[in-house]
Amino acid sequence: MSSRIVKIFDTTLRDGEQSPGASLNIEEKIAIAKQLEKLGVDVIEAGFAAASPGDFEAINTIAKTIKNSTIASLSRTVKPDIEKALEAIKPASRKRLHTFIATSPIHVEKKLKMSYEAVLEAAVEAVKYARNGCEEVEFSAEDATRSDWDYLCKVVESVINAGASVVNLPDTVGYTTPVEYADLIKYIKNNVPNIDKAEISVHCHNDLGMAVANSLSAVLAGADQIECTINGIGERAGNASLEEIVMAIKIRNDIYKVSTNINTKEIYRASRLVSKLTGIDIQRNKAIVGKNAFAHEAGIHQDGVIKEKSTYEIMKPEDVGIDSSSLVLGKHSGKHGLEKRLIELGYQLTKEQIEDIFEKFKVLADKKKEVYDEDLHALVEDKIKFS
Ligand code: KIV
Ligand code: ZN
Repeated sequence: MSSRIVKIFDTTLRDGEQSPGASLNIEEKIAIAKQLEKLGVDVIEAGFAAASPGDFEAINTIAKTIKNSTIASLSRTVKPDIEKALEAIKPASRKRLHTFIATSPIHVEKKLKMSYEAVLEAAVEAVKYARNGCEEVEFSAEDATRSDWDYLCKVVESVINAGASVVNLPDTVGYTTPVEYADLIKYIKNNVPNIDKAEISVHCHNDLGMAVANSLSAVLAGADQIECTINGIGERAGNASLEEIVMAIKIRNDIYKVSTNINTKEIYRASRLVSKLTGIDIQRNKAIVGKNAFAHEAGIHQDGVIKEKSTYEIMKPEDVGIDSSSLVLGKHSGKHGLEKRLIELGYQLTKEQIEDIFEKFKVLADKKKEVYDEDLHALVEDKIKFS
């Protein structure tokens, strides 16, 4: 195991909750925060304190309840937002104020309608103001990946001088690519003279389906913190998925050469809880936590995993908190898979009986998406009755 730890900043309760239809009440947010603490995330972004009285209360209660993760609240670079966020996180044993302003031409000119100098000043003033109430201040340059790199360097250098200890370079609209994002991180490291005084954070959205790949590429370029959400929920196509990032780092340690503080055995429980409370289903073929992630249907694959699991499994289901992998019986399944299941169901059958049941099983499987245990019981009972 490598000694460099990459921090996991979970924003399920802030960016994740910004998914259309995913609003959570205070009790639900607290339940998720407790599971995130068990999971071992370094930072929990509990919400956006100025967004609503409910969000303020949720952050404040989480700050009182959680002991082992840093609690963060997001705020714009305006004083009333910062004051609300500082008040919300005050009871936390470890706290972080996270402030942001956009730096890309499209946002600065069309959305903020500010000059670049004014954006820089707002960023610096916000960080200074926040530092009066909180030692740990993170600054995010929204839409960093569509910003001018030299302007970005200037902003990053200035906010670090103002007291930011974490600088985040979000790919706000999921526009970048793994190679370009790594280049940006390296450019910042090489061109911001005081960069060693701060941690570099990355925050990727999934509009082109590259949020996880971009985050991992940033790790190779030296990023210190990854912002992500459980099940990858978040605005539009979502954020980088925590479980995919953490397991990629664990399984391909030969490539990434870093580790995280995550207790991976709590991943599945966190995933189920977030899905249940947000009402957002997990797609069946979702990596790590989807229903099919550890299921095998094809005969050749079933035969392989019966003989040696690592033929078709690159990680152990138990390592992510799933009891075991499963053999799903369907039209692609083979005799070995069927026989194994029949033995598990308690049947002791002769080779001849299995041959016969297998034939009938194939006829049935052609008509159904999946053959269940009840179907197998019926096939066996039929066989026994008529033989
Ligand atoms: O995507 C983004 O840019 C954000 C920032 C507010 C960090 O969520
Ligand atoms: Zn975001």
